[in-house]
Amino acid sequence: MSTVVRTRPDPVVRDAARVLFGNWCTGRTSAGRPFAFTAPDIRKFPAQFYWDSCFHAIAWAAVDPRRGRDELRTLLAAAEPDGFIGHTIFWDAPVRLSRRAFYNLVSGRDRMTRTIHPPLLAFAWEIVADASGDDPGFRTEGLKRLAAHYDWLRANRDPDETGLLALIQPDESGLDASPKFDARLRWQAHGLPGFVTLVRRNRRDRFRLEGIRARGGFVVHEVLTNVAYALSTAALARMGGGARFAGRAAQTERALLERCWDARAGLFADRPRSGRREVSTWAALAPLALPGLPAPIAARLAGEHLLDRRRYWRRFPVPSTSVAEPSYRARTGFPYRYWRGPTWIASSWLLHRGLRLHGRADAAEELAARVRGLVGRSGFREYYGPDSGIGQGARAFGMSTLAAAL
Ligand code: GLC
Repeated sequence: MSTVVRTRPDPVVRDAARVLFGNWCTGRTSAGRPFAFTAPDIRKFPAQFYWDSCFHAIAWAAVDPRRGRDELRTLLAAAEPDGFIGHTIFWDAPVRLSRRAFYNLVSGRDRMTRTIHPPLLAFAWEIVADASGDDPGFRTEGLKRLAAHYDWLRANRDPDETGLLALIQPDESGLDASPKFDARLRWQAHGLPGFVTLVRRNRRDRFRLEGIRARGGFVVHEVLTNVAYALSTAALARMGGGARFAGRAAQTERALLERCWDARAGLFADRPRSGRREVSTWAALAPLALPGLPAPIAARLAGEHLLDRRRYWRRFPVPSTSVAEPSYRARTGFPYRYWRGPTWIASSWLLHRGLRLHGRADAAEELAARVRGLVGRSGFREYYGPDSGIGQGARAFGMSTLAAAL
């Protein structure tokens, strides 16, 4: 006689699916182009956001890979003929007049911002392809357009071929008001009134690197962006995108090590230096997600920082800014200044991957358990108090469903 073993559905996966389905948007543009994506939160952010979409697709891979594929296809379909894909895409309606000053648009008719987001598309594509046994053609169907997208990034954001992409605004990193930008931006930092001035000046330069660099504007080689870039170009090469992308991934990893690794602090930092001591934020640990990171460096990132109780290893890790920093805040408060302390699950997911890659499966498991416990008690909020676990911001937030992919 055979026994039937009934497994209960995992409650985290079940609840994550509810959030993802609730934020799912489909339709056609006025020109008849179909779209299907997950809004970060249907009420608070009713548009497609580049890096959110990549993370949503990774979460969908654990829930319903077909939707993950459609989400990434839609993001790639937003590419302009030259390969550019913006930070935010407004598929069904132009941005409201009252909000235009805050968006990185050149004209009111633009349906996409002229700024970028951490370029995780090819990285997410490979993860979703690995979960797509029912659609094996997915892995290669986007190769030409993905290659064009990464060629655009190199030509426009790394014109000197250093291996590192340059950012022209802090929000391009996904880490809007992170205190690591304070010394560079001062009164023009994200969330402060002067930020509108920064956007206005960049708009005059049509958000193009050359003009902004020529007048000495904000230009930075940011660590997380370049980790995303190296992960993606390596994935693109593995999917069949061509040897040039393997070469670019290796060049970016080398450049991160040679230019951004600060051996004294045991952390990675943006370049050029901001002139003072660098603020320790989770982005400084993000290179842990690179499989080829040398073991002694991985050991220092994990041992001296991520797993240190006084810095990042709090009850609900990983805080977006080290708790030991004077700029650390457990709450976002008002005016909203993101990434100055609260825990975001996207960061925990990426660093969890890094811990597993670098021989710390024990700590990775502990991190996964704490994150799952966090969403179990507080739901899928936008971000959380690292010690209290209190959820803040959006109430049904897409990126937090990554807890289901741990
Ligand atoms: C905030 C976050 C950014 C995210 C966006 C949409 O601007 O800082 O990382 O992409 O919201 O969720």
